[in-house]
Amino acid sequence: MDDVIIIGAGASGLMCAIEAGKRGRKVRVIDHANKAGKKILMSGGGRCNFTNYTIEAENYISQNPHFCKSALSRYSQWDFLAMVEHYKIPYHERSHGQLFCDCSAKDILNMLLTECRKYKVKIQLNCPVDKLEKTDNGFSLTTSMGELSTQSLVIATGGLSIPKMGATPFGYQVAEQFAMNIIPTKAGLVPLTWQDVDKKQFAGLSGIAIPASVSYKNGYFAENILFTHRGLSGPAILQISSYWQPGETLLINLLPNINIIEWLKNKRQQSLKNNLGTLLAELLPKKLLKALVDQSLLQQSVSNCSDQQIEAVTQQLQQWTIKPNATEGYRTAEVTVGGVDCDEISSKTMASKSIPGLYFIGEVLDVTGWLGGYNFQWAWSSGWCAGQFV
Ligand code: FDA
Repeated sequence: MDDVIIIGAGASGLMCAIEAGKRGRKVRVIDHANKAGKKILMSGGGRCNFTNYTIEAENYISQNPHFCKSALSRYSQWDFLAMVEHYKIPYHERSHGQLFCDCSAKDILNMLLTECRKYKVKIQLNCPVDKLEKTDNGFSLTTSMGELSTQSLVIATGGLSIPKMGATPFGYQVAEQFAMNIIPTKAGLVPLTWQDVDKKQFAGLSGIAIPASVSYKNGYFAENILFTHRGLSGPAILQISSYWQPGETLLINLLPNINIIEWLKNKRQQSLKNNLGTLLAELLPKKLLKALVDQSLLQQSVSNCSDQQIEAVTQQLQQWTIKPNATEGYRTAEVTVGGVDCDEISSKTMASKSIPGLYFIGEVLDVTGWLGGYNFQWAWSSGWCAGQFV
């Protein structure tokens, strides 16, 4: 019998295993995949954006916005950074405090696996679980490697994004088996697709990337957006996608850093002969202007522009409203929004409040971080917390 079985050898599962191992617990991690930490390896374009200098509860989406606070403060970005520095892994900061490996995401995975070895954690790959039952003193599991039993069982099987990399709904099924509530899931940090009519108008813009601000209800992000032949992507769109609900409209400001009304009125005062299209091409790609602004307006000489026309063009560029068709779905999503209801879980231990000995950590929970290292930090923090109690 093991003391602890952790299902899922990803970010949170490995962190939990290390911490439980440190306490002298006999730990076994099992995973159906042929390799541990696949998402770590593919993250951040192969450089793993492993945390962020600024981590706040506001950077997470959850039905219970307070739930993540305790874990994030008990095992913070500084704690993870200390381990990265102890292993002398070179890293650098990019915009918005995002921390990436200089060399490779492998450095992070190797660090975690080295720690696992140090604390004699057994990792069994290619090991799917067929059945799982509560017993008097823990849990029994029927796996491809036979029957296993354990005192504590940790579900660290992540979300649904990128099924090709081994994502499954296993964690949600376990929660359901034990009658725990699940907040409905959807793809997050994911590109959005055009409606058919918009596709005709905008597909030709594919490849254009510009700084913009995107807002939807209480979400607001000022970063790049990218036009693709399928729809919109880029960091600002990925961020807002986690908030966006199908059927709803996004508001996009394509010139977030300039008072365009003042700018155009100023040009008008200078009695410039240029038409609006030529002038605006100083600020935005011509193709984009053509697709978004009325042709008659673009051809209008700036010196003859009325205030109304200046306002109209400003509205078209700074308050572009677009109703996406859908998201690209789990195939390309970085995360899953929703998951096991945090109200079912102790924020101190990550244990189920109703099933003694059962723990949930990482992305399987209804805690979804922004783009920028927040999801890994949640995996480290929640895994660390459970590791102290399993
Ligand atoms: P994780 O997905 O890491 O691990 C789950 C494990 O469970 C996997 O090993 C899987 O094989 C296993 N498993 C699943 N079903 C199972 C079953 N039925 N039986 C047995 N095992 C099973 N975040 C971030 O902060 N910075 C970044 O740079 C990126 N980049 C990034 C890129 C891409 C392409 C993706 C898809 C995601 C990211 N993320 C990210 C998100 C981040 O990878 C993610 O939030 C964490 O890996 C979640 O950690 P978990 O431990 O919860 O799940």
